Amino acid sequence: MSLAALRQDFPLLTRPHHERPVYFDNACVTLKPEPVIQAILEYYRDYPACGERSVHRLSNKVTLAVERARERLAALVGATAAHQVVFTKNATEAINHVAWGLPMERGDVVLTSDKEHNSNLVPWLRRAEFEGTRHAFFATTEDGAYDAEGFKEAVSAHKGRLRLVAVHQTSNLDGQSLPVAEITEVAHDAGARVLIDGAQSVPHLPVDVERFGVDYLAWSVHKMMGPSGVGCLYGTDEALRVLRPRFLGGNTVAETRLDGFTLLDPPHTFEAGLQDYAGMIGAGAAADYLMRLGPAEVHEHVTKLNRHLTDGLEARDLAVVHGPQDPALRGSIVPFTVPGLDSHDVALYLDEKANVCIRSGAHCVHSWLNARGAGGWARASLYAYNTTEECDLFLDALATLKTHLEAA
Ligand SMILES: Cc1ncc(COP(=O)(O)O)c(C=O)c1O
Repeated sequence: MSLAALRQDFPLLTRPHHERPVYFDNACVTLKPEPVIQAILEYYRDYPACGERSVHRLSNKVTLAVERARERLAALVGATAAHQVVFTKNATEAINHVAWGLPMERGDVVLTSDKEHNSNLVPWLRRAEFEGTRHAFFATTEDGAYDAEGFKEAVSAHKGRLRLVAVHQTSNLDGQSLPVAEITEVAHDAGARVLIDGAQSVPHLPVDVERFGVDYLAWSVHKMMGPSGVGCLYGTDEALRVLRPRFLGGNTVAETRLDGFTLLDPPHTFEAGLQDYAGMIGAGAAADYLMRLGPAEVHEHVTKLNRHLTDGLEARDLAVVHGPQDPALRGSIVPFTVPGLDSHDVALYLDEKANVCIRSGAHCVHSWLNARGAGGWARASLYAYNTTEECDLFLDALATLKTHLEAA
């Protein structure tokens, strides 16, 4: 599909020029294409019933549509069976299923990197606080790059008590990716399980849980053109079975007595109560859409745009780009600061003066930025529908800002 044709699928991008945003906040939430919007509307218009519970035709249609969506999401990440994918509210809830469900004893260790999103840090700190487990981290380099030796040293330092290695695949802060297959091998050799936070990788890279060998993968659907309020947790059959579901009730049990209950098998045991059926069905449509585009092709496209943006920022001396200087290592992410300006002021200026949407602040990775004395960064993040022309509009807006700053 040509880029022009692709853009026709995204309602906001078909607006008249003066109403059309340059949307560079894709690492937060992506835009939604028509097939996803249609799938959600169809549910609400044509079969807005519950899944699983009732036997009438509308309910059966919901159940079938949800299970078909689950199959599509499983296919997207290379899972062998659809039942290995649990629907959640978002990546955070998926991580929390593991954080509160994985049996651990006092003194057991969970190892993360020092550059995790708060969603893959705070749950481990909280569990340590409540239950006496320990959170340890391995350091990335000053530039945020992976340090294989540092990781291996941290693993051997905790050998015997290490129960889980929980790391991002791709960082939302600087776009760098970790070698998850290599990390998984080292962790498994030490007897630990592996949870990958795939919030930023599933929308952008070919992810294959079988090839990586991971135990768990958490991701968000709203970052891959799907609806807000939906995420997924993948687990191998064995890894899902060992988790103790914390939220129980309707649809999680095969039968109950007044003095006990029998749980259903995963994934249902993790999906308590009436679900966001429209969201789940929309998520399946998003998985189909992304598979049609091809995650590898998306990655190639955004990396090309990243190079264009990075070269423009540097050649015109518009901003300081953070993280590795090679855009190929940053995928879709361009973290930057304008010297002398707070990142929120840069974001507000771009929004007000040029209708450019970016993100600013600590990006939920306060721990890493604070350790380096960096207040906040601005972040342009790209996706499949962005264009070189949009990059030029963004660069021109920053050039105008620079002119104002120099004149002040
Ligand atoms: C790397 C990473 N992990 C986790 C999350 C949390 O995702 P969600 O908002 O879907 O819970 C994000 C969101 O930005 C993220 O970028």
